[in-house]
Amino acid sequence: MENTNNNIFAEVRSKLDIVDVISEYIPLVQKGKNYFGVCPFHDDTNPSMSVSREKQIYRCFSCGASGNVFTFVQEYEHISFKEALEQLARKAGVELKNVSLQKKNDKNDKFYEIYQLTDKYFLNNLQTNLGKQAKEYLHARSITDEMIKEFGIGLSLETSSDLVQLLEKKGYNLNDLNVIGLANGNKDLYNGRIMFPLKDLSGRIVGFSGRRYDGLKENKYVNTKGTPIFQKGNILYNYYDAREFVRKKNQVIVMEGFMAAIRSITIGIKNVVSLMGTAMTKEQVDLLKRLSVNVILCFDGDDPGRHATITNGEELVKQGFNVRVVELTDGLDPDDYILKYGKDSFERLIENAQNYSDFKIKNLKQGVNFKSNEEVSDYINQVLLETSKVSDEIRRELTLKTLAKEFDIGYNTLEKRLSTYLKEETINPAKKQEFVLKPKQVKHNKYELAEKTLLYYMLTNGDIRNRFEQGKFIFSNEQSRFLASEIVYYYKLYGTLTPADFYTYLKDKKELLQLLDKVLELDIENEVSNEVIDAYIAVVRENNRNLEIKRLEKTMKEKNDPLEKAQIAEKIRKLKMGSV
Ligand code: UTP
Ligand code: MN
Repeated sequence: MENTNNNIFAEVRSKLDIVDVISEYIPLVQKGKNYFGVCPFHDDTNPSMSVSREKQIYRCFSCGASGNVFTFVQEYEHISFKEALEQLARKAGVELKNVSLQKKNDKNDKFYEIYQLTDKYFLNNLQTNLGKQAKEYLHARSITDEMIKEFGIGLSLETSSDLVQLLEKKGYNLNDLNVIGLANGNKDLYNGRIMFPLKDLSGRIVGFSGRRYDGLKENKYVNTKGTPIFQKGNILYNYYDAREFVRKKNQVIVMEGFMAAIRSITIGIKNVVSLMGTAMTKEQVDLLKRLSVNVILCFDGDDPGRHATITNGEELVKQGFNVRVVELTDGLDPDDYILKYGKDSFERLIENAQNYSDFKIKNLKQGVNFKSNEEVSDYINQVLLETSKVSDEIRRELTLKTLAKEFDIGYNTLEKRLSTYLKEETINPAKKQEFVLKPKQVKHNKYELAEKTLLYYMLTNGDIRNRFEQGKFIFSNEQSRFLASEIVYYYKLYGTLTPADFYTYLKDKKELLQLLDKVLELDIENEVSNEVIDAYIAVVRENNRNLEIKRLEKTMKEKNDPLEKAQIAEKIRKLKMGSV
């Protein structure tokens, strides 16, 4: 079975190109024979991940993440090997008939199951007679039946414990229902609310937001509290479904509320996510990094919305994003705006989104008393400071001209002040997006290097594998020996070896994977002469000899019998002469 499995893994893998697969997640740029992108597995803005089309593997120079298409998708989507395999098999058009993988039990599996059941239950409620009022409410808000279906909108009933009872009858325990935020004691947590499912990064339903619709209830929305599978600050609404649209446009629109996102998706603007509030967490910033560097903030047209635009925009700019802003007014949120002015008008707003710095400069005016010289000069200074962060020279000049005209100040005075700020900016380059692609030089001693080099050639060169099998050389490092044996064994099974497939074959042997990784990192030419191989083998032998001498010297010290000591000394002498 192991055997057929590996054949299928290899078939799926060989039908996909790692460059195409990874491109669907992060933008890649070709440099020489490799492709580079910003590594999604650690906090970074530099393109330190390299993807090799030739070897079908990726590696991050900065954090060391590495692997093949399977590991990439697995780690990026936070899914199991099996799930990654299924997903990629679908993409490759390979049927997974004979694959049997014992699924690793996720301790949270039960929780996901409960959420799935609960979701079905809520969906059904809305379609019954008891859902009549809620449906009317939704329709009145121009949320159509198709939208109800698309976004999985449901209803919790006014009754106090229907859901808890149902789930207990299915065998789930009350304590679990409390832990995952569906029950409060032995009562349902949500009563008489319209239920919006919230998905995690892999698209599983892990929470709900319940909206009141009868006007009597206290909070407008009740959200799932923090649970083992859900943290509001760790997700973005619509993240999972937005990914492909974000990729196509290389741009992501960020909104406050999920109703805004729903409306926007309905009119065909689907590269949108929402924060579910105005605060943006570090985790959410990291999620945005995985999506696109081009962000459009489209928050509500009220004071909190404007405030959030400034705070979040500032942070995103600091993190290297290109930030643009859509400013709504009159207290409208995107949902209201679209319903009032229509699709085309909203599309135009998005297209004409202004630069964050322009938005900020404009907003500096808020609340300034232009009759006070002090406040005016403060204001001008702040504008100049912001302007110094603008990289486009023409835009900087335009700002200076506007200021000069508006406040009747000499252009040169303004320019001089700006240039002092510009200097500060260059002295303190907060975030320079440089293409530095120097892999960290790993220091090997010559013995380690020789072993790794031989392992590297064993991956492709049958002659060297034969020599190993015939015992012509022995690795002194235990892991090297194991890896070498695996390479030989793999060839016996499959007759051929691709590093990318070999990764999958070793997926459960962590130490060997790490070693394989270091071996592949050498990235040397595949062609090698016999002389060079002989030289490496000589180094490996020298190492073995030295280690043997050390061992003998130690034994000799422990012996008391002079004859035994002499015998060992003789062995050592011969070894040192290199005659053994
Ligand atoms: P809004 O108050 O802007 O809601 O809150 P909305 O999106 O316009 O919703 P409708 O149109 O009134 O139905 C924005 C987001 O803040 C969170 C929700 O996630 C909401 O999507 N919020 C708001 C809460 O969690 N609780 C609340 O009581 C209010
Ligand atoms: Mn709204």
